[in-house]
Amino acid sequence: MSIEFEAKRKIFHLFTNDYSYYIHVNKYNYLIHLYSGAYLSDISKERVSERHMERYAFLNENKEETQDEDYYFSMIASQFEVAPFGKGDKRNAPFIIEGENNTPITNFLYDSHKIIKGPANKSDFILPHVRFENGDVETLIITLKDEYKDVYLELYYEISDKYGVLVRYSRIINKTSEKIKVEKLASFELDLPSSDYNILCLKGTWGNDTEVERIPLNHSLTKISDNHGGRGFYYNPSIALMKNDATIDNGEVYGFSMIYSSDFSYEFKVDEIDQTRIIGAFNDETFEYLLNPSESIYSFETIIAHSINGLNDISHKLHDLIRERILPSTQKIQKDYILINSWEGYLYDFDTEKIISLVDEAKKCDINLVVIDDGWFKGRNSDTSSLGDWEVNTDKIDLKKVIDHAKSINMKIGLWVEPEMISPNSDLFRNHPEFALIPDGYKYPTLFRHQLTLDMTKKEVVDHVFNALSNIFDNYSIDYVKWDFNRYLTESYSASLDVERKKETNYRFILGTYDLLNRFTSKYPNILLETCSAGGGRFDLGMLYYSPQIWASDETDIALRASIQYAKNIFYPLRSIGAHISDRKIGSITDKACLAFFGTFGYELDITKLSEEDKKQVLFFNDLYKQFHHVVLEGDYYAIFDPSKTNYVAWNVVSKNKKECLVYFMNYRKEQTKSRFIKVKGLRKDKYYFNSITNDIYKGDFYMNVGLNVSCPMDPYFSAVVVIKEVDDVRATLYRKTKQVDGGKRDKLM
Ligand code: GLA
Repeated sequence: MSIEFEAKRKIFHLFTNDYSYYIHVNKYNYLIHLYSGAYLSDISKERVSERHMERYAFLNENKEETQDEDYYFSMIASQFEVAPFGKGDKRNAPFIIEGENNTPITNFLYDSHKIIKGPANKSDFILPHVRFENGDVETLIITLKDEYKDVYLELYYEISDKYGVLVRYSRIINKTSEKIKVEKLASFELDLPSSDYNILCLKGTWGNDTEVERIPLNHSLTKISDNHGGRGFYYNPSIALMKNDATIDNGEVYGFSMIYSSDFSYEFKVDEIDQTRIIGAFNDETFEYLLNPSESIYSFETIIAHSINGLNDISHKLHDLIRERILPSTQKIQKDYILINSWEGYLYDFDTEKIISLVDEAKKCDINLVVIDDGWFKGRNSDTSSLGDWEVNTDKIDLKKVIDHAKSINMKIGLWVEPEMISPNSDLFRNHPEFALIPDGYKYPTLFRHQLTLDMTKKEVVDHVFNALSNIFDNYSIDYVKWDFNRYLTESYSASLDVERKKETNYRFILGTYDLLNRFTSKYPNILLETCSAGGGRFDLGMLYYSPQIWASDETDIALRASIQYAKNIFYPLRSIGAHISDRKIGSITDKACLAFFGTFGYELDITKLSEEDKKQVLFFNDLYKQFHHVVLEGDYYAIFDPSKTNYVAWNVVSKNKKECLVYFMNYRKEQTKSRFIKVKGLRKDKYYFNSITNDIYKGDFYMNVGLNVSCPMDPYFSAVVVIKEVDDVRATLYRKTKQVDGGKRDKLM
């Protein structure tokens, strides 16, 4: 059981084995947030809010509660589940709804509730979501009614003891006889009683897609948001809120991850008595929604993970949930493919012969999937034209011949597409200019990479793209698709929407994209899909619901990419992070392989030009992939050295049974004179493990407390993958004896 309701005191308790969340319905039917934090068996003895300021207390069994001016219930600083808008609470509000009288005062009060075993019914929930199964969760649905309009709000709380997370979303229902305008729609509100936190978020830009940024809370409104309509390098929709003294291994941390691929916002408002309100919502800068009578709209879902054991524990909770309940079933075939992508090797310059030689050479190197990136379709020889013309350019490439050849030697072929786009220089634009997202009569739409976006708010556009893609994928046997999205939305006020609905464009655009992805993945369930947005510009759980992996960055230089991966690893399972070995200058092929090994692993270079020595390394790593990559795909991830704080990068991944462990290390800068010990995490302290760097056997607690000694001089960017493997006690003892006898001669146990 994960939800209890105590009717007498009107208190809900949602809990997992290490987390409690308490809600109270006060006598005026306001939904009061009582507590969120480490598991607490009872709230009555520890009235958390009262501890902070008696004047603002709201729950006191011996005294009367009254509204506003009253000593015991003040809106100014109460902690709410749903704060009102336009009333006494002047902090940020989660919902703003304008009714027929143009007055947006919004004040939702408790009406009823339901507790369900299992997840809520999602049959009319059109956004990607956690695929919870019965037994994973219990769900609390609280229904509230606006004090002044016939508008209802449903708050959903899916609490999962199995995954240690709380998933929140909401729904507004219009029961009035008029249209209402939803001006702000939150997925969750969380009011916390203190402000000694900092926000850890991921920000970036093209080529430096993801960097960790830490922002201390202050009394102004801090907004972590994006308004690009999908290509959101700017801020990622996964963030953490860390107590100021929390670290990767200790202290209180919240992780938040929205399942949404378009404009979002996290607002952090510290109030006058230093409480913090967090609201996760559609970004109201680019969102508004008109609801007709009897219509309703859902927010997106947000996953909330809490831990008192630091950021690594948040990564474990999120990674497990994402792998098991968000990624599509095609993740099962990820391990079957080692791919090579044509982009960095050839750009647009390829033909049938070149691709066939690539297939042959790849085969020799034990690579089994060749991806033909941009440039295979009608007229496309640079980025200036042809998006939308999804027909094979038969003058350039005989795709049938390539596929037949590949199949004959047991190789697979993948293709690049960019379905949501249209080039002004394309047959599609010449025949259907109305397919482009351009406001009515607008003459100068912004071009970005010489292209426009399609108007994905229109069903006929989605139908058209789906048919065009089907035409390719029905006629050519393709095993993998890279689905790109290279520009963001501008002038996004769709010509097809009524005047009063123009601000629905970005939301409806992503609904169109999700619809297309839904249709595509349902029709081609065996195609491995990798999404991409000029690299990792649309890296979020909405996309991961459809594609088990996302190309992490166009930056394949290991210097920067190590910190890009380090940042992404915090929130996203390593198996979802597209990572390839390229031909960039920094580092040897081994250094590059070490880093790519901790993502999807693949190649992005002209392999036909590699030296024989490098080809041997390719074979070595492909072999290592077959032996150990399952640990990266399924294991528990631990950050060790943060590249923004040290001159090294290091992390390790441990298999669930704790028998195998892989450590990544990179000497980020040329630093020769420091002592360095990599303290490995997550092993069994009393088991013996062999390690492939010194070929020694130590107990788990030695690796975890002393660490692997890498204090030797090394070149800049020197990288290593260290395999640590459990050996049984007898073997360990034998080894130790042998070592004594032969004076420490190294033994190879792998
Ligand atoms: C984007 C992608 C690249 C490549 C190009 C092709 O930039 O991120 O990997 O596919 O598009 O145009």
